[in-house]
Amino acid sequence: MTTTSTVYWRSGAAGAVSAKELQEAADLLRSGGTVAFPTETVYGLGADARSTAAVESVFQAKGRPSDNPLIVHIADERQLEGLAASLTETERGLMKSFWPGPLTLVLPVLPDAVSPRVTAGLDTVAVRMPDHPLALALIREAGCPVAAPSANRSGRPSPTAASHVLEDLAGRIGGVLDGGATGVGLESTVVEAVGERSVRILRPGGVTPEQLRAAGYAVEFDAGAGIEAFGQPVSGSAVSETAASQPTAPRSPGMKYAHYAPRGEMTLVSGSAEAVRAYIQAKADAASALGLRTGILAYEETAASYRADAVLACGSLGKLESAARSLYAVLREFDELGAERIWAEACPSDGIGLALLNRLAKAAGGRQVDAG
Ligand code: TXA
Ligand code: MG
Repeated sequence: MTTTSTVYWRSGAAGAVSAKELQEAADLLRSGGTVAFPTETVYGLGADARSTAAVESVFQAKGRPSDNPLIVHIADERQLEGLAASLTETERGLMKSFWPGPLTLVLPVLPDAVSPRVTAGLDTVAVRMPDHPLALALIREAGCPVAAPSANRSGRPSPTAASHVLEDLAGRIGGVLDGGATGVGLESTVVEAVGERSVRILRPGGVTPEQLRAAGYAVEFDAGAGIEAFGQPVSGSAVSETAASQPTAPRSPGMKYAHYAPRGEMTLVSGSAEAVRAYIQAKADAASALGLRTGILAYEETAASYRADAVLACGSLGKLESAARSLYAVLREFDELGAERIWAEACPSDGIGLALLNRLAKAAGGRQVDAG
């Protein structure tokens, strides 16, 4: 990996990057460079999806396994014509209801539409239209489909601020457009249409199952979606909402990797409020006695009842959107504070809570405890 100097474009006083700066960033993308940009979910690291060399630089910069395909970002639906083969009514309906927004659709890819490095050799491509003015302006200006994974080093928490991008990738990417903090704070929901008005969630995210159902779609979960422990049936089980599903290898290859992890060893603790509190405090006290630096991820309602080297409130249990928005910054803060052992309180699994629990479980690398 050669080291380059990373250009930094910051929003001006009016809160917007100037037209000239946007042009510079778009030129960089068009000429095969890598540009990090804000979306409504997390910052993405963009490259021209048609260029294998450009996409290769994204994998290089992130240190990302190459069998993990990338999401292609578009700014308007006409861009789809060059990417995906014929769309079904269900797919069109999903786009109409949820684009621009945090819903990624897995679609049959047209031959040679994007570099095979984007699809990792699959016959499908994941596409989304981000709901962020800077992202849309950049893609429009660049005039190409933009492949963009989250702009973090592989395995690290996803970036929800430009400073996180620079922490991980300064000197490894062409530039970063600073648009301030992202809104949702967790990645998009990845789905595939599996029948008429029916979707399978491959990765839970910013669009909740409740929102999909409210829009008239039956929802099932892929076996690889990483939600089985949170009270939701996965496809292939007897309670699946559609009959055709089979238990198979994860359909979203990225879901098999340990992700989003702080450097300290984290454990996710669920159960009744009192049991969780007692369990976590006892573990933290025991670790402290061994001389380890301890961290506890709690919420505004519960943080005051703990003692540890770092007790961080990850938003409010009463407003899980705030917890989603805070999660990745909180995980990074544990690193800054040097936490070596971390316990995280689980949250309820409704609404955005499902995606939040999924990311907490990933960050915990599978260490999950039911405190009773
Ligand atoms: O919110 C987001 O989606 C962010 C922002 C930057 O847009 N992007 C993001 O990208 O999270 P990434 O690369 O970190 O995650 C892509 C996910 C992975 O789980 C990957 O396996 C899945 O999408 N994916 C990509 N192409 C796929 C395909 N053809 N079939 C199934 N899953 C696919
Ligand atoms: Mg990612």
